[in-house]
Amino acid sequence: MTIKFKYITFKQTGDERGSMTVIQGGDDVDFEIRRLFYIYATKGNVVRGKHANRNSKFMIACVAGSCKVLVDDGYIRKEYTLDKPFEGLYLDKMVWKDMYDFSEDSVLLVLSSEKYDPDEYIREYDQWKKEVTGGN
Ligand code: TYD
Repeated sequence: MTIKFKYITFKQTGDERGSMTVIQGGDDVDFEIRRLFYIYATKGNVVRGKHANRNSKFMIACVAGSCKVLVDDGYIRKEYTLDKPFEGLYLDKMVWKDMYDFSEDSVLLVLSSEKYDPDEYIREYDQWKKEVTGGN
């Protein structure tokens, strides 16, 4: 069984002017980047996500502030705190994710391997779990 999510520390290319982190598709993430979006001004005690995607792979990084992400591949459930702009979470397709505890100043950057397609979303946890585990 291969683990379908991974915490990654990106290289920082800082100099005396400040810091920079570069994420190149195919190099720093194992997919070509077709979409980028970011989530910000998130209200307190909001839970976002609550879905899995059939086709999209993601790299998410909280580039300002902090938030927590619960990831679940059907066998392993793990909570991560994202609070550094140079750390990210790689999510393979079909990984379930919930995002919550957003700080007021948080900006959650999401890189995706696919363009937006509402039909690839699975929003029913039990249905998703059955699909990924084959009911086991
Ligand atoms: P939603 O999937 O609820 O966001 P989250 O995964 O953070 O909980 O998306 C919110 C709205 O934005 C919804 O109406 C669909 C739309 N949307 C797009 O149009 N394109 C996109 O790439 C994404 C991620 C969402």
